[in-house]
Amino acid sequence: MEVVHSIEEIRREVRNLRNRSATIGFVPTMGNLHAGHLSLVKDAAASCGAVVVSIYVNPMQFGPTEDFSTYPRTLEQDLELLREAGTITVFQPDDEAMYPHGTTGQTFVEVPLMGEMLCGAARPGHFRGVSTVVARLLNIVQPDLAVFGKKDYQQLAIIRRMVADLAIPVEIVGGETIRAEDGLALSSRNRYLTAEQRRQAPCLYASLLEAAEQVRAGRQAFAQIEQAALQELRGCGFQPDYVSIRRQQDLQPAGAGDRVLVVLAAARLGQARLIDNVEIVL
Ligand code: PAJ
Repeated sequence: MEVVHSIEEIRREVRNLRNRSATIGFVPTMGNLHAGHLSLVKDAAASCGAVVVSIYVNPMQFGPTEDFSTYPRTLEQDLELLREAGTITVFQPDDEAMYPHGTTGQTFVEVPLMGEMLCGAARPGHFRGVSTVVARLLNIVQPDLAVFGKKDYQQLAIIRRMVADLAIPVEIVGGETIRAEDGLALSSRNRYLTAEQRRQAPCLYASLLEAAEQVRAGRQAFAQIEQAALQELRGCGFQPDYVSIRRQQDLQPAGAGDRVLVVLAAARLGQARLIDNVEIVL
């Protein structure tokens, strides 16, 4: 497994892989890898001859009061997991490689509307940071395909839209959410939960499943379904940010005629802000 740090090195490595006629799959991450990330690597490997994984904790997507400085950085452990997963190349740039002129004055990519709603409303500038770093990573690596988890559903939708709008020549694939046995979606931020909060945490997915079940059963009073889920979350000790039934395509609020839906939620539990979602196709 090659681990490279500079743009020059990763481009050379990708060129070599292409000369061996491999198609390139790409999985961008912020490290602290778990089975969710590894599942994306597996998805990439299933359709590409070579997989590049990037590890970079992107300062531009963290708000001033967010956890950038404490975000877990576990490089040695990450490399070990990737070695076992058969990853070919790891791109681990530093800030100098990613933002050579600093983040102030950095050209940015912003997907309006979709970037401002839901988590974008609670985290101003977050999705601008995500789309900017992903655009830069895609330009650096130039993969054939890139895999993003459905766990971060709004992020995936925004990246799909950015790639379409800017005609970036890459196929975007959504990877399924990997969960603990009790249903909690794996996340680096689960480590902020105390033992008691960890026991309460599966309530998030359970509330979403319950809401999705009602929609599937034909109930169209979406606002009431959302309110009931919010109540359930509060009952489990969460401080919910939102529960919302949306259209998968553009994340606009779902109306009675829409059939390809997703119910999304964000909720705080102690120090952790957890997100999750369930897709619904009627
Ligand atoms: P990070 O949180 O490290 O996640 C990297 C990728 O793993 C994302 O596509 C995310 O959706 C996916 N992922 C996380 N938990 C998952 C789970 N339980 N099951 C399946 N996939 C999961 O998302 C980011 O990093 C950053 O915003 C990034 C895209 C790298 C840009 O900085």
